[in-house]
Amino acid sequence: MSSSMPSAMSFMIRPETAADVPARERLLDQAFGKRRHAKTSARLRDGRLPAEGLAFTAVSPSGRVIGSVRLWNIIAGSAGPSLLLGPIAVDGRRRGKGIGAALMEHALNSARVLGHDSVLLVGDAPYYERFGFSRAFTRSLHLPGPVEAERFLGLELTPHALDGAEGLVAASGVLASGAESRKAA
Ligand SMILES: CC(C)(COP(=O)(O)OP(=O)(O)OC[C@H]1O[C@@H](n2cnc3c(N)ncnc32)[C@H](O)[C@@H]1OP(=O)(O)O)[C@@H](O)C(=O)NCCC(=O)NCCS
Repeated sequence: MSSSMPSAMSFMIRPETAADVPARERLLDQAFGKRRHAKTSARLRDGRLPAEGLAFTAVSPSGRVIGSVRLWNIIAGSAGPSLLLGPIAVDGRRRGKGIGAALMEHALNSARVLGHDSVLLVGDAPYYERFGFSRAFTRSLHLPGPVEAERFLGLELTPHALDGAEGLVAASGVLASGAESRKAA
């Protein structure tokens, strides 16, 4: 049993609910600032719903929202259907206790179980490499806006899913209604 077990037992990960949305938005504003909506990765999420069954909330024993992660349907150029992971954030007072890793593992395992083949993201390679993400999978893929190349990473859930992947990454998620869109952002 890993040494992170006592911390791991002090939170729970469950599917996101509509009631989580205000607290999730506050958490993301605190983690990334209001300019988060201007990021290139936001263009692949704007006006869309997260991928079916792939929005998760970490909650404290008292039910407080302390972490969030969502994945989004995209087309990864020539590789076809894929997922975009993010944003992921953990409450500033609860970081370093394994909640982020648990959210990542839960999200990636759920994506695998649901039959998805690959995941892309824009983020800090030193954090995401521990989950298997690599720049090697995204070298010939392009996002619909500027990103620092070394932050554009991919992960194969199915071996070779991103072999030779090239071209533009495009949003393919279900379009949200107005109210849902504001919740999903
Ligand atoms: C990134 C984040 C979700 C991790 O959550 P967490 O619950 O603290 O993560 P864990 O406890 O599982 O892991 C902590 C480890 O990740 C490392 N880490 C955290 N953020 C990191 C980053 N941006 N780059 C490299 N390593 C990072 C910590 O140093 C720590 O390392 P250690 O295991 O060697 O001690 C959280 O720090 C957060 O919300 N950050 C602000 C939002 C953000 O930057 N999100 C995406 C990153 S691009």
